[in-house]
Amino acid sequence: MIFIYSLIFVLLLSFFFTSNIKKNYWTYYLISIFIGIITTVYEVLRITSDVKIYGFPLFLEKIFIRGYISIAFFILVMFAGALNPKWKITRKLLSIRAELAIIASIFIIPHALIYFVRFIVLKLPKMFSTGVIPKLYIAYIIVGIIAFVIMIPLFITSFKKIRRKMQSGKWRKLQKRAYIFYFLVYVHILIIMLNEKEIDLLKLSSYTIIFGTYTILKLIKSSPAELKY
Ligand code: HEM
Repeated sequence: MIFIYSLIFVLLLSFFFTSNIKKNYWTYYLISIFIGIITTVYEVLRITSDVKIYGFPLFLEKIFIRGYISIAFFILVMFAGALNPKWKITRKLLSIRAELAIIASIFIIPHALIYFVRFIVLKLPKMFSTGVIPKLYIAYIIVGIIAFVIMIPLFITSFKKIRRKMQSGKWRKLQKRAYIFYFLVYVHILIIMLNEKEIDLLKLSSYTIIFGTYTILKLIKSSPAELKY
């Protein structure tokens, strides 16, 4: 359910604050960086000492560090390019698409950093000492790392200043990598869910419906019949 709540929150924010995000995008980037720093510091303290938070602050921290807010922003970026551009919601999303992609990327950096460090410092030595290699865990970590590496140039070239310095053909070609990125993110999340003791069917079907609908919409949009119009 946390994922659904995050998606609803991000959708409402993007719909009702479209012009505010467009105008004050740096404020939104700075807020995202600030939240990212706080969650990273908390995670480091949690791993290295006994610091713990409870209740609502913990709920919020989980939303950010587990990647829910980030994936919600990415989903809006995806659908901005897949829905009918005549619809009001699509026009709104398209007008702030780059900003939403930048916010999504900022929010995933602490997630990738913390889980990567945890993997190297805590999980790998344990695997070597016990000899037990959890295959699904390794698989989703590797898929996550590849997705993150693909995301970096997409993130950097989303900034208008950098985009302006690039030839538009080159920029478009690079941005096509976003499809591989979305696919890997879905695989990353799918393996995580399959790795859980009890599969959360609501979560599994929500992600599958969202990524599946996106794929179908994009295929329809790129079909020769649609391209004529
Ligand atoms: C840009 C790339 C990435 C995206 C968009 C992403 C997204 C997500 C999302 C949405 C979840 C929550 C899945 C759920 O339970 O509903 C998640 C979980 C997780 N991700 Fe990533 N991830 C990325 C990269 C990485 C990287 C690089 C690592 C590690 C090196 C990683 C490690 C993990 C782990 C360990 C979890 C499980 C967290 C938990 O349940 O406490 N991810 N990821």
